[in-house]
Amino acid sequence: MDALRIPRPDDFHLHLRDGAMLRAVLADTCRTFGRAIVMPNLVPPVTTAAEAEAYRARILASRPAGSDFEPLMTLYLTDRTTPNAVRAAAASRVVHGVKLYPAHATTNAAHGVTELEALDDTLDAMAEAGLPLLVHGEKLGPDIDVFDREARFIEGVLAPLVARHPALKVVLEHVTTKQGIEWVMAGGDNVAGTLTAHHLMLDRNDLFDGGLRPHHYCLPVVKRREHKQALRKAACSGHPRLFLGTDSAPHPVRAKESACGCAGLYTAPTALELYAQVFDEEGALDHLEAFASRNGQRFYRLPVSEVQVELRREETPDPGRLQVEGGDEVLAFHPK
Ligand code: NCD
Ligand code: ZN
Repeated sequence: MDALRIPRPDDFHLHLRDGAMLRAVLADTCRTFGRAIVMPNLVPPVTTAAEAEAYRARILASRPAGSDFEPLMTLYLTDRTTPNAVRAAAASRVVHGVKLYPAHATTNAAHGVTELEALDDTLDAMAEAGLPLLVHGEKLGPDIDVFDREARFIEGVLAPLVARHPALKVVLEHVTTKQGIEWVMAGGDNVAGTLTAHHLMLDRNDLFDGGLRPHHYCLPVVKRREHKQALRKAACSGHPRLFLGTDSAPHPVRAKESACGCAGLYTAPTALELYAQVFDEEGALDHLEAFASRNGQRFYRLPVSEVQVELRREETPDPGRLQVEGGDEVLAFHPK
């Protein structure tokens, strides 16, 4: 199979940032994806329907000429998010999910949730409105090893949450462990998971390959090789509740190559090609269409695109560095 045609895919987990960075990165996503679930972790975060609408307008205004890319907005859940804010978001029609960041778990998560149990009414309102909860699945604590954060979150927070709110739709974002995969697969129709291209390609050895590799550092951090193998097998299995979410997260090179380098990989320029490479290596190209163009769309109740995109078997070019107005550069991920 040297050419593959699939309905235009969507990216179910994307960071587009704002201002000059937004203007620099947006075209890379528009080239391939029809829609994207846009993360709300701006500074300050997007916490109301009105803020989501204003951010959406800035994204639309930054699209390359002729692009019909559609941003699907999300709200950032805080300790103060009310059931009414959720109902207003659902009524807006532009908000498609609410993002849970445990406080301080990742980039711009300072406003994240400190006490999830106090938000039961808000989560009930989400379930009623059919608005999914998108979960950054890491539990932090002085006694919790960074490589165990996802597994500890699932057993300590996520499983009890789903037991309390069985009608709530939940997406475990950027699954990085076999425990995460097992949890999604064992769940009901309301439970799904996204997988990034880089977690399918990297394991923790790649963080230290010949020296410290800040451009392979993201959150949740890449895990042991056996976890990567479990993610690849699951992605390529055609499982209906696993789908594409790049977590493409651009940062200036200067912020990554620093004594305290920040987390996030920029994969948008070749994201679909990276996934296709993994599916090809696993002998599962026939399952790429479901993963990229059908499963997430079904979960979010979005129509499958009528536009087709074509992938050809050829070397994926190294996208190199992207220039941002003001002098910053962003280094795009490229596998060795
Ligand atoms: C993301 C970012 O930079 O916003 N970083 C990352 O490593 N994935 C935040 C996130 O999704 O955790
Ligand atoms: Zn993310």
